[in-house]
Amino acid sequence: MNSVSYQAVGEIGVITVHYPPVNALSLAVRTGLGESLARANADPDIKAILIRCDGKTFIAGADIKELQKGWHLKNPTLGEIQAMLETGKPSIAAIHGTALGGGYELALTCHARIALNDAAIGLPEVKLGLLPGAGGTQRLTRLCGPAAALDIIVSGRQVPASEALQLGAIDAIVTDLDEAALTFARDFAARPAPAPVIARNEAIAGIDPDIFAAARKQAARKSRGAEAPLAIIACIEQACELTPAEGLRFERAEFDGLFGSDQHKALTHYFFAEREARKIPGLPGELAAVRIERAGVIGTGTMGRGIAVVLANAGIEVRLVDTNSDAAKLGMEAIKGIYDGSAARGIQTRDAADAALKRIKLGGYEDLGEVDLVVEAAPEIMELKRTIFARLDASTPPRAILATNTSSLDIDSIAAATARPERVIGAHFFSPAHIMKLLELVRGTTTGPEAIAAMMSLAARLGKTPVLAGNCDGFIGNRMLQYYTGQSEFLMEHGIAPERIDAVAERFGMPMGPVALRDLAGIDVSVLVRKERMKTLPEGERMSPILERMVEAGRFGRKNGKGFYRYEGGERSPAPQAAAIIAGVASDLGIPAREFSDEEIRDRLFMPLVNEGAKELEDGIAIRAGDIDVAWVNGYGFPRWRGGPMFWGQSVGFDKVAELAREFGERYGPRWRPTPLLETMVRDGVATWREAGY
Ligand code: 3HC
Repeated sequence: MNSVSYQAVGEIGVITVHYPPVNALSLAVRTGLGESLARANADPDIKAILIRCDGKTFIAGADIKELQKGWHLKNPTLGEIQAMLETGKPSIAAIHGTALGGGYELALTCHARIALNDAAIGLPEVKLGLLPGAGGTQRLTRLCGPAAALDIIVSGRQVPASEALQLGAIDAIVTDLDEAALTFARDFAARPAPAPVIARNEAIAGIDPDIFAAARKQAARKSRGAEAPLAIIACIEQACELTPAEGLRFERAEFDGLFGSDQHKALTHYFFAEREARKIPGLPGELAAVRIERAGVIGTGTMGRGIAVVLANAGIEVRLVDTNSDAAKLGMEAIKGIYDGSAARGIQTRDAADAALKRIKLGGYEDLGEVDLVVEAAPEIMELKRTIFARLDASTPPRAILATNTSSLDIDSIAAATARPERVIGAHFFSPAHIMKLLELVRGTTTGPEAIAAMMSLAARLGKTPVLAGNCDGFIGNRMLQYYTGQSEFLMEHGIAPERIDAVAERFGMPMGPVALRDLAGIDVSVLVRKERMKTLPEGERMSPILERMVEAGRFGRKNGKGFYRYEGGERSPAPQAAAIIAGVASDLGIPAREFSDEEIRDRLFMPLVNEGAKELEDGIAIRAGDIDVAWVNGYGFPRWRGGPMFWGQSVGFDKVAELAREFGERYGPRWRPTPLLETMVRDGVATWREAGY
């Protein structure tokens, strides 16, 4: 079947795009559109044109794979197709699914846009480090005004049809799309077409210039270091100042600048990595995922509450179990608070929040007889977890999947407490569970494919980004984290102040530097975790004693206002007492202060992540380098526009990563040495993880 077909239906030229999976604007589609438009425009019997799509969606934008090859520049370009539409016969876009990026930009050059009620429009180019380069910034601003354009294009969000209608981004919502589209087209054929969007001026008259300064401020806060949001704001500002032709030229120049950027490359990598992470090699293709309708959650602490909320939001009936009835009541109160908060902030409607809350009920193990899944979120004590799992094994149906939210314990030992180890899996949610996107699923030695498939499919339903990890201390994310935070202490020993280290990490794009992160997590908690870890450290391994000294001095972090920083009124400021403790450690160890450039600090913090990530690939803990990137972007706030730590490591060069790891191996112990995989890649001149088979 051709990717575009043309049919004359009476006076209407109906153009249908058929290019699975998402009708992207490939060269083939553009060619088909160009030929069809030429036919319709040349045929005197045709009075109006209708563009519609087969399959699950309207056109979802430029073909991202072809963009990577520069094929968007091949003729006919999208701009040429748009010119044929804008200057041709009256045209209508009939939208179902999602009209995104170049797809919505194409619709913006039609004379009208109609959509199904469950459709959405959007200009998500920002997520690829781009801006809408086919007039989207200019036309949407002229159609809906700069405030709406800023919101929609800078966020890249999908705008539901009902909101799009209110904003004027579409003209009507209909129930029978094909029928209504033909009626619309016939009506168009009978009267003069409205002015093209690009020629409209009402929405850009009398604009308050302050909105652009406010948008820049917000972008700097929300997407620290990202280039595309600022370029988008500039384009929208210019749409209010320049003539249409000048505005389009301005937008094109900005698009070209972003197209050549490292950020666009990194975000394109991330786009495909996130989708690939959902694909698990070796799972039987025909495996239908068990659908989860009823679930139990064990534990009503912070994690248990958040997990119950996530499940209930997805329409799942939840039994919340805590053997301590006071804790259970407290937990339920806190859950009510979460729903009140999300209704007050407009994240959910009050009705949706109330309906979800109704799905969560307190109960006991005896109420778990019908569940499809249990997520255990009890304290991190192995014996406790094993007791819980044995009890769950006895009180849930044999088909039920038993998941543990442990962030560090051995999944195999937990699974061994049951008679169904193939249905036991790790489901490591990140705190707060109802907000953080990452769901690190952990496969034990005995975890079976059905449990993995069910949890992968559940993750999609919960709106989470899943990554499958193997079973080891810290799994994918936390196993790497210790090198990042550990390095920050070694840097402090050299006389680098906490605020300088954090400033470098935050300028790199992290939401919070490693030292402030220690304060947030609790230095006392870190010391406890390290005590356990130290028992298994190889000989010759060194850890900085700074954390222990801080705890001895009563400095626990944010929780008591005294950590590496002082905390007053929510603000952090340097703490001279902490500086004295650090200086004391350096003096005891005989480490002289020395200068470090910002770049050196950056490399010391982030390169060890790459080395440990390589070790995870070697050990089979992560399937692909991209999976590690997805975990770090969604669980730890690693800047998405850098593609994730592994992509970043690849861009700076494996030789540099290995060189620093050699130095660290000498200085801090064998765990820091370059992993054999990295050494082999450097020796063989392998430049990408893909080339190395990851
Ligand atoms: N180009 C090429 N492939 C695409 C694509 C695109 N624009 N959008 C999606 N795909 C592919 C995915 O890679 C995936 O392939 P796979 O099955 O081999 O992994 C497949 O289509 C299905 O995608 P999803 O798994 O994401 O399917 P969903 O149903 O969950 O989501 C979607 C569908 C909402 C359309 C989502 O895919 C999406 O957001 N796509 C990106 C849209 C986008 O960014 N458009 C802008 C492109 S840039 C542009 O238009 C520039 C212009 O301004 C000039």
